[in-house]
Amino acid sequence: MKILLCFGTRPEAIKMAPLYHALCQSALQQSQSELVEDKKSRFVVKVCVTAQHREMLDQVLDFFEMVPDYDLDVMQPNQTLNELSAQILSKMDTVFNDAKPDLVLVHGDTTTSTMVALAAFHKGIKVGHVEAGLRTYNKNSPFPEELNRQLTSRIADFHFAPTLKARQNLLAEGVKDTAIVITGNTVIDALFLTLRKIEAGYLLSLKDGLINKIDFSKKVILVTGHRRESFGTGFENLCKAILEIAKNKEVEIVYPVHLNPNVQKTVFAKLSGVANIHLIDPLDYPTFVWLMSKSSLIISDSGGIQEEAPSFNIPVLVTRETTERDEGIAAGHSFLVGTDPKKIVNITNKLLYSKRSLEQEPNPYGDGKACEKIVQFIKETFG
Ligand code: UD1
Ligand code: UDP
Repeated sequence: MKILLCFGTRPEAIKMAPLYHALCQSALQQSQSELVEDKKSRFVVKVCVTAQHREMLDQVLDFFEMVPDYDLDVMQPNQTLNELSAQILSKMDTVFNDAKPDLVLVHGDTTTSTMVALAAFHKGIKVGHVEAGLRTYNKNSPFPEELNRQLTSRIADFHFAPTLKARQNLLAEGVKDTAIVITGNTVIDALFLTLRKIEAGYLLSLKDGLINKIDFSKKVILVTGHRRESFGTGFENLCKAILEIAKNKEVEIVYPVHLNPNVQKTVFAKLSGVANIHLIDPLDYPTFVWLMSKSSLIISDSGGIQEEAPSFNIPVLVTRETTERDEGIAAGHSFLVGTDPKKIVNITNKLLYSKRSLEQEPNPYGDGKACEKIVQFIKETFG
């Protein structure tokens, strides 16, 4: 049973890393067990990265100790979606011809996941979709991710839905009940794994640099952003809001700036040179997790961060018009604010000075056991 995990961007790598390790662990147990005599049902696990991201992907590969068997190295500066899609489609044939997988696992809603799923379908290879069923039903928000995830759902044979809502979306679209498993989001598995590593003494090489730069006795606001539908006015408005918030000298704003040139251009032009706004390079995952744990508030359009933050009981202002992650909003963890500067500033001020319950609620996105459930399903289905 040959399984090929394919991914290409930072968040996909973070969310597939624990699954890769769980599958490898299962393969190891099979090889030591007398029970799995049929060699065909033993797992052989391989990884293909498209490298839609390069530096931001490599940071994750390093930390989670994943060495790709195939690396398509497709990233080009400021690549267009069509160039990127064409490159991935054309390069996957060689990978499939060599790896001959029985099952390809893709993740979420990126160009990598949809193009790899389509390429696998063209070769008659079964596709499992991790983080399936998230929907806004607005194909321009998030763009192009909403269409990507809907297309991948039409292609996939197996759907690993993180939440009940995601499962209901898939059922309503006619996906068979037996092809859907509710697993929780694998990002929580990745987060727990990382926290365990940090507790066990993993050296956060970037931590000292941050401690020297940032006054952690103040309220730290962590900012990230990269969504294409916010390029231009959306990002300019976000910057206006950040400048306004920074007038409060009780706060320190830390902003690891995404490497997309469309983001870098606006953010550095508008926010450089303010003493309590720290524009820094993207952080490696464990340092980012540590920084989240030290923050009072997060302002972000990231999907992964909306899912992780409830584990730290930190509120997230979601700078988007729509979200497919309603569970966090319903539970009072996140707040959909769009990119209107006034709204961002008002809600920031309100949340910074309101008391949050000390009681830690369960994270609505997962309990850290998603990968276990996915591995179990694959074993039962292919065993
Ligand atoms: C992509 C995904 C998005 C995901 C996001 C996570 C698509 C269409 N978009 O958006 O769904 O939420 O990643 O971050 O699949 N770049 C670098 N180095 C890197 C990464 C990016 O220089 O390590 C620059 C390059 O100039 C690249 C550009 O960023 O061309 C855009 O990268 P791309 O993957 O197309 O889009 P993202 O905005 O990163
Ligand atoms: N992240 C990181 N370093 C950073 C910023 C974010 O490791 O400097 C992690 C974050 O914890 C989350 C993921 O990257 O798990 C989110 O990635 P991104 O916002 O790029 O994509 P999205 O989740 O929106 O698809």
